Amino acid sequence: MNKNKLVLVSLLVAFVFVASATVSLAAPLVIKFSHVVAENTPKGQMANKFKELVDERLAGKVVVEVFPNSQLFGDNKVLEAMALGDVQLAAPSLSKFEKYTSSLQIFDLPFLFKNMDAVEKFQQGPVGQKMLMSMKKKGLIGLGYLHNGMKQISSNSPLRVPADADGKKFRIMTSDVLAAQYEAVGAMPLKKPFSEVFTLLQTKAIDGQENTWSNIYSKKFYEVQPFITETDHGVLDYLVVTSVEFWMDLPDDIRTEVKKALDDAIAFGNKVSAEKAIADRQLIIDSKRSEILTLTDAERQLWVDAMKPVWKKFEDAIGKEYIEAAVASN
Ligand code: LMR
Repeated sequence: MNKNKLVLVSLLVAFVFVASATVSLAAPLVIKFSHVVAENTPKGQMANKFKELVDERLAGKVVVEVFPNSQLFGDNKVLEAMALGDVQLAAPSLSKFEKYTSSLQIFDLPFLFKNMDAVEKFQQGPVGQKMLMSMKKKGLIGLGYLHNGMKQISSNSPLRVPADADGKKFRIMTSDVLAAQYEAVGAMPLKKPFSEVFTLLQTKAIDGQENTWSNIYSKKFYEVQPFITETDHGVLDYLVVTSVEFWMDLPDDIRTEVKKALDDAIAFGNKVSAEKAIADRQLIIDSKRSEILTLTDAERQLWVDAMKPVWKKFEDAIGKEYIEAAVASN
């Protein structure tokens, strides 16, 4: 090898070495996932599973950081933080998108879905899938729905018929539909972040709240609420969201892999939600801290009759054909 060739080869070797060092030193992309619930919930488990799958499949390229329990952002701040690029993934309940779209309000209509199978069918059907993109112009993309389950109403006095709720204060999520639902039975709804619910109940600043079995259990609401009426009157599910800007800026191969990991994590979270709806209910019964009231058909019908007129009030905002599609999924 002559001298010139030797120099060329050495330069090439040096270049390859520097280039590979640069690649391995390139910082992995960070996805911050902020949520408000405990880790032992469907959403908490789903988020942790997502992190685990990304660690496994995209090692060195992408890192997921999960912040549970409103540690990073509470309900009221997370979507604003997403617009600023301070967080990349969140999964607020479907009731918390009112400022961004009116179509998702459909999920709050009382006594719309008979059970979680109907919810799943509607979400995976054409209307549900269309709604994933309903906030694109506002900078948000829905990547998928995640189940938690049907809601129950807890209270410091027994609620059997709508008149029992008259004049009582209930914490609700930030949803006008939920506000109308409580007003329909003469109660006073208060929109408050999830992180404040336990203290509001404990100090008796409010009389009750509505939530799923896993949230009532994991946040210990049952320890400060002597009664839980098993109403199954509505659904509490989530929309996993990201910002259009972040999502579209991802390299195609990374976006595909991240979405796959997310889909797998959601499937896992949905299994957890079905199990927890049964297991956490039983743990609450076993604790003997709270009595679970089951309604007779006639008692339940009184709640339906009192609350169902709320549908009409929101029909124009949501879309009549959307409501009909939801009813058809039952
Ligand atoms: C609530 O605010 O009650 C729920 O949306 C909390 C959650 O994320 O499950």
